[in-house]
Amino acid sequence: MNRRDLLLYGLASGLSATAALPPASGQAETTAKASRAPEGQFPPGFLWGAATAAYQVEGAYNEDGKGESIWDRFVLAPGKIKNGDTGKVACDSYHKWREDVALLKRMNLKSYRFSTAWTRIQPNGVGPANTKGLDYYSRLTDALLEAGIRPFATLYHWDLPQALEDRGGWANRDTAGRYADYCDIMARALGDRITNWSLFNESKAFTQLGYWTGDFAPGRKDPLAFLKVTHTVNLAHGMGFRALKAVSPKLQVGSVYDVSPQYPASASEADKAAAVQMDKLSNLWFVQPVLTGAYPDGVLPADRQAELLGFLPGDDKVMSADLDFVGLNYYSRTRVSHTDTDTGIPGFHASPEWAVGAGEVTDFGWNIYPQGFYDILKRMQAVTGMRPIEITENGAAYNNRPGADGQIHDGKRIDYLRLHLNALSRAIADGVPVRAYHCWSLMDNFEWASGYTERFGLTWVDFDNGQKRTVKDSGEWYAKVVAANRVV
Ligand code: FCB
Repeated sequence: MNRRDLLLYGLASGLSATAALPPASGQAETTAKASRAPEGQFPPGFLWGAATAAYQVEGAYNEDGKGESIWDRFVLAPGKIKNGDTGKVACDSYHKWREDVALLKRMNLKSYRFSTAWTRIQPNGVGPANTKGLDYYSRLTDALLEAGIRPFATLYHWDLPQALEDRGGWANRDTAGRYADYCDIMARALGDRITNWSLFNESKAFTQLGYWTGDFAPGRKDPLAFLKVTHTVNLAHGMGFRALKAVSPKLQVGSVYDVSPQYPASASEADKAAAVQMDKLSNLWFVQPVLTGAYPDGVLPADRQAELLGFLPGDDKVMSADLDFVGLNYYSRTRVSHTDTDTGIPGFHASPEWAVGAGEVTDFGWNIYPQGFYDILKRMQAVTGMRPIEITENGAAYNNRPGADGQIHDGKRIDYLRLHLNALSRAIADGVPVRAYHCWSLMDNFEWASGYTERFGLTWVDFDNGQKRTVKDSGEWYAKVVAANRVV
């Protein structure tokens, strides 16, 4: 089962949640609309980049004072990760960061989205900074700047210090305060050189999979704890935002949301209502509270919402933050049906599916639906307004191995990227304020529960031979797109 199926399975098997009803979702799937600009063209100054995340690439899991994260612990549990893989070495970017910067340069990229590992900085999630951990990100940042590449740091890409999980993790409100302390440390150490910061990566993914279905670290299966977790993470958005801005108001602070259009599986009223509910829990549950101070209505029973979330008077102000930009990750569409099964969350009756009737899929089984990229950008703009959007992830798993010539001919990835960049260009032409695109990923890496079996990289990494890097056909193609500022 892949990651998305696992979530489905969790929902269908009664491990999960509730729902609500908003505007632009619950609609039928659309067909391409005519746009004003020629497809595949990007505005002058459009920023091209690639993304990675600490646990997926760094390795060096216990070096230079790094503490244990929930992923360091989770990968050791039997049966959780394909082939028993771990991120102990991963791409070894902790040592090979110069090669990573060279790859970015070779692809003409001007933005590198990486994440910082909280446990390198505060091994137990509290207390003074570990200088050696900060030094690593400082070296990387300097090398990027020297290469003319914007460092774009994500402060949390799922690797909570295990010591904080032992105190209740994100289900414990106190974790939001610890997170803000960590943000303060990072801004003081690197805010003079890193201007753009993302608070969290995919709050929806790590809270649902980590605390509701149990498929990701820390592996808890507790729908009610999951609700509390979502609220702590929203509080942490506001607190982290203010911690960074207090160090320097010049810092540009946003967050990264994983979004997918939620199409009703049929024309029935029940499925339409389920799609609306799923849209609120999936697409809006984190961005709306931060931007407006309020949760979408209709997901939880109104008279129980405060109790279920642990919402205290004044929390609306705590979680609010006027984000400078919004990061969006898009991979595939979702179809939603109504379920009478107990989802574990009071009032929630939506069941999502990623693959049903989906037509073509990637090697990971994720459906390929570029129009969904256009649709979700338009949908999210209704919530985020004219705030700048950065595409912080988009890409596909294709597991082509080197051919007889030693090169990696991953034409299907090129096709996927071409289709999605065309959809993106149409959304921009139609007024969605997107200023940057980051391909996931710069290189093959540790793909969470799938270990090293799913390869998303523009660069091949030979995990059996010293993590040797070879740019794939797609990486060469992407370099040309970037140079031309249009799809080629
Ligand atoms: C996203 C994650 C990223 C990577 C891609 C394939 O959901 O943010 O770490 O695993 O999917």
